Amino acid sequence: MIETITTTPYDDQQPGTSGLRKKVPHFQQPNYAANFIQSIFDALPLDGGETLVIGGDGRYYNREVILMAIRLAAGNGYGRVIVGKDGILSTPAASNLIRQRKASGGIILSASHNPGGPKGDFGIKYNVGNGGPAPERVTSAIFEKSKTISRYRVWTTPAPDISKLGETKLGDMIVEVIDPVADYAALMETLFDFEKIRALIALGFRLRFDAMHAVTGPYAREIFVNRLGAPADCVVNAEPKEDFGGGHPDPNAVHAADLIARLMAEDGPDFGAASDGDGDRNLIVGKGIVVSPSDSLAVLAANAHLAPAYAKGIAGVARSMPTSQAADRVAQKRGIGIYETPTGWKFFGNLLDAGKVTICGEESAGTGSDHVREKDGVWAVLLWLNVLAERRESVAAILEKHWAEFGRNFYQRHDYEEIDSKAANGLMESLRDRLASMAGQRFGTLVVSEADDFSYQDPIDGSIATSQGVRIVFSGGSRIVYRLSGTGTKGATLRVYIERFEADPAKHSLPPEEALKELIDTADVIGEIKKRTARSEPDVVT
Ligand code: G6P
Ligand code: ZN
Repeated sequence: MIETITTTPYDDQQPGTSGLRKKVPHFQQPNYAANFIQSIFDALPLDGGETLVIGGDGRYYNREVILMAIRLAAGNGYGRVIVGKDGILSTPAASNLIRQRKASGGIILSASHNPGGPKGDFGIKYNVGNGGPAPERVTSAIFEKSKTISRYRVWTTPAPDISKLGETKLGDMIVEVIDPVADYAALMETLFDFEKIRALIALGFRLRFDAMHAVTGPYAREIFVNRLGAPADCVVNAEPKEDFGGGHPDPNAVHAADLIARLMAEDGPDFGAASDGDGDRNLIVGKGIVVSPSDSLAVLAANAHLAPAYAKGIAGVARSMPTSQAADRVAQKRGIGIYETPTGWKFFGNLLDAGKVTICGEESAGTGSDHVREKDGVWAVLLWLNVLAERRESVAAILEKHWAEFGRNFYQRHDYEEIDSKAANGLMESLRDRLASMAGQRFGTLVVSEADDFSYQDPIDGSIATSQGVRIVFSGGSRIVYRLSGTGTKGATLRVYIERFEADPAKHSLPPEEALKELIDTADVIGEIKKRTARSEPDVVT
């Protein structure tokens, strides 16, 4: 029976860059999750009988919310829900299922790379029928509904056991529990030359994949070990845990320090990689070298044709605005389209759907292609492996040759985490106030050529996104970008992105902090970072 439960609205259910993210105790308030999921359904044009994909990264509170979401789906007339066994689905695997099974959408439970556990973070995100994150107009409609919600509808009896594969019914709705890995692994086999990668591994090529006790463990085991023949111990931290083993599932220099250290050792593996909580981010490390996400995007764009799925060439590349312009150089040289979008994967959806771009990437450790509508960590690792298997060169050699051909965009991102929100907003406001008078100003040897607050008009649907980050561009093309993170759950996080192009190969081996020294100092002068945040240095540099 469908039961209508009376509820009262919360005023803070506005989805951010990637869905609604809050601390677990916040989500545990009475009806908090049910309100939000009902608001999603209320915002959609549901006719009844639709298919919904449901899954999450396995973090604390995942199971409870999934069981509730199943009952809500039954209460709102869905015909079928497809749920990963034990509620598990990586974000790219969920995107793939939505597309393959022609679902009308999906609910993905994750707070991505944020820590989990009873006091950790939790999140709910809605993806639309193309498999990608809901666009702004949908998330705003959800927020509007959440502000006035007065009831939600659930199926009275409990949801079926989601630890058993197969189909059962909840009222008129079919609940189909599936293996979270199978369809995804099959998709990967259609994109890449598994034979070639297997041959590379059989020759003694050593890889190490750190699943960070998050969702990719089972995917990595099936693909790298079972299908590609790598030794079982090449996948580490492979058991997904509700609290990620107490760690922070963010594949960056701080949280994947152990992986990086192993790759820096003489006798270490040839190739290292890691993914985040929900499996959409990636870190790529070669022997002796960490590949910056912006460089990874450029190298993958330049070499994608070496993998079967992209052998005919790629239509174009898209990157988020703060991502370095390394990919632009590849696109220009190859004569393909290049698009600059605001931060957030959802902005790539229309470009991918329209066939304008094949490969997309962001500085925030995301790369992906038109195979799904999310960034995809394991996909990025496989594309790198496919390239390595074809070229039979080290990661370091591939990067050096890439820079020699296209020039090097030195790049760093400086993060100031959990700073006072008022101070952070004040800093951004002050920058915006000074934009008009910025051009022509001199800082040391640097002269500002342009300054603006990035806004974007989607070339497909014409929608406009404003205030997406302050850009200070200097003559010669160097850039400093300031923006506030849209994914934090506490205070504010200021991100400062610093970039300088260097054409001369003799200077390509400089450490980035040296190559960027003057810009880093200037970023503080212009942004008044130390003064306004009372921080002497960033918490994380990537
Ligand atoms: C999520 C989105 C990414 C985006 C990132 C930005 O991971 O999926 O597409 O790049 O957030 O995070 P930030 O904290 O910089 O807003
Ligand atoms: Zn993620």
